[in-house]
Amino acid sequence: MLEIDYDAFDENILSNWSLVPYLRYGHAFGLFACNSLKGFAIFMKEWDNPRFAYLLEIAVEKESQEKGYGCYLLLQSLIHLKKNGLSIVFLTVDPNNLRARHIYCDKFGFKCAEYRKNEYGQGRDRLFLQLNLENWIPVLDEHSSLEPKPLGEGLREE
Ligand SMILES: CC(C)(COP(=O)(O)OP(=O)(O)OC[C@H]1O[C@@H](n2cnc3c(N)ncnc32)[C@H](O)[C@@H]1OP(=O)(O)O)[C@@H](O)C(=O)NCCC(=O)NCCS
Repeated sequence: MLEIDYDAFDENILSNWSLVPYLRYGHAFGLFACNSLKGFAIFMKEWDNPRFAYLLEIAVEKESQEKGYGCYLLLQSLIHLKKNGLSIVFLTVDPNNLRARHIYCDKFGFKCAEYRKNEYGQGRDRLFLQLNLENWIPVLDEHSSLEPKPLGEGLREE
């Protein structure tokens, strides 16, 4: 996971120290193809409202990007969270990350709730997005590549 994290972001967002509690006490989904991990998504619940989940990170290794895996992973994760009674999912995204914004907002219906200036230090602003899972119906439209390319892939929950 740390390798994928570094590969996807060109820096480590996770560390040996943060990953262990995230996996033990958060909720992680791994996307596997040909028995190897291609991507993952990690969520945690909000302390004050355990029906709210925060998407800590979603990443797909560079070589496997742009094949529909990221959308598939997010779709399956959100379906699972909804089935398990979560009501709101929120996350932050770099305003310049147009691919992620397209996925969150255009494809999944996340709404921008706030612009957080310098959220991760000077010049590292973030958009705070949220999705109400109670009203959310997963839709596969004809222009969408939510289905991943066939590689014998699967999604496993950690
Ligand atoms: C974001 C990420 C998880 C998406 O996974 P992926 O497998 O590459 O995504 P998919 O192939 O499922 O979907 C990509 C979508 O973005 C679109 N896209 C690609 N580049 C784009 C751009 N520059 N601007 C807008 N849309 C873009 C694609 O056309 C596709 O949408 P479509 O299905 O409507 O055509 C992955 O790219 C990644 O790990 N990126 C680096 C880490 C990161 O940014 N994580 C999110 C942080 S909040």
